[in-house]
Amino acid sequence: MAEKDIYILGIESSCDETAAAVVKNGCEELSGVIASQIEIHKEYGGVVPEIASRAHVNVIVPVVDEALTKAGLLLEDIDGIAVTYGPGLVGALLVGLSFAKGLAWAAGKPLIGVNHIEGHIAANYIGHPDIKPPYICLVVSGGHSHIIKVLDYDVFEILGRTRDDAAGEAFDKVARTLGLGYPGGPMIQEAAERGNPDSIRFPRVKFSGGSLDFSFSGLKTAVINHIHNGEQKGEDIAVHNVAASFQQAVVDVLVENTVLAAKRSGIQTIAIAGGVSANILLRTEMEEKAQKENMHVIYPKLKLCTDNATMIAGAGYFQLIKNKVAGWDINAIPGLKINS
Ligand code: KG4
Ligand code: ZN
Repeated sequence: MAEKDIYILGIESSCDETAAAVVKNGCEELSGVIASQIEIHKEYGGVVPEIASRAHVNVIVPVVDEALTKAGLLLEDIDGIAVTYGPGLVGALLVGLSFAKGLAWAAGKPLIGVNHIEGHIAANYIGHPDIKPPYICLVVSGGHSHIIKVLDYDVFEILGRTRDDAAGEAFDKVARTLGLGYPGGPMIQEAAERGNPDSIRFPRVKFSGGSLDFSFSGLKTAVINHIHNGEQKGEDIAVHNVAASFQQAVVDVLVENTVLAAKRSGIQTIAIAGGVSANILLRTEMEEKAQKENMHVIYPKLKLCTDNATMIAGAGYFQLIKNKVAGWDINAIPGLKINS
């Protein structure tokens, strides 16, 4: 007899997207709804936490409703409710978590607390039931840059991490200084298309002792200094060249360290996840370098790279089948670590 299908409702509100989704068996997206706050935060050049929390409150009910409707399911058909409980902005997290708790309690469903970063990793399984651990995953987002050995669906080992800024944060700050707007990643990528990546040699930080850690703060400062020096001399800033040279510097270190991590671990599969994994240069250069080492690269479809609830529902599935269910006292943890 076929095993019973498992349907998870996922809810995500850790930053500036209110999202809900229904996923079947951890890999099939039945619906995915995202209410983005980008337009609201744009004028401030970044996410304003209190405004984000209020905006989540305004839309969470219709977003969850729409996710169920689009999936063609009722709440009673759902096997578990997975929700992000960290890391993220505390007020924003609390909106999704409180809502999910209330819904799970009222409907008599299990509640599953999901780590946002582990959610980004699980985005790789959506549409790809064939992908199985172990593999190396580079998680690069607005708040995190980690190289992670994925030993099982819910077991992770951190091999490298940023010692200062996250990769996405560097994209956002450089874009703001260049006057390109928010979020910075897609803007830099677009500007870089018309620039020469070899025109300015920005620093690539490498730590001694075989460390796989990253540092992007020196690179960000070098780019900002380059722009300010030019402005002081009254020169026109070649925005496209700065964007292309900066993007190349970030991608070079991300790719080099990730491939090295896979080599050292004797692992042939590399995954990338998180908002910055939407970057085309990162995808192509990772593929090229990996191919030379007989490795292959997987990544989520574009819409699942940035924040979404499909990945949270996916990660929730792998926890539920191991009976990893949250207590009703689960709280938001803004600095939640992986594997906790
Ligand atoms: O995963 P995500 O949506 O949110 C966090 O968990 O932080 O990642 C957002 C980050 C932002 O810093 C944004 O600039 C970056 O991902 N990003 C990109 C691209 N698309 C989004 N960075 C580089 N290239 C892109 N195409
Ligand atoms: Zn994220």
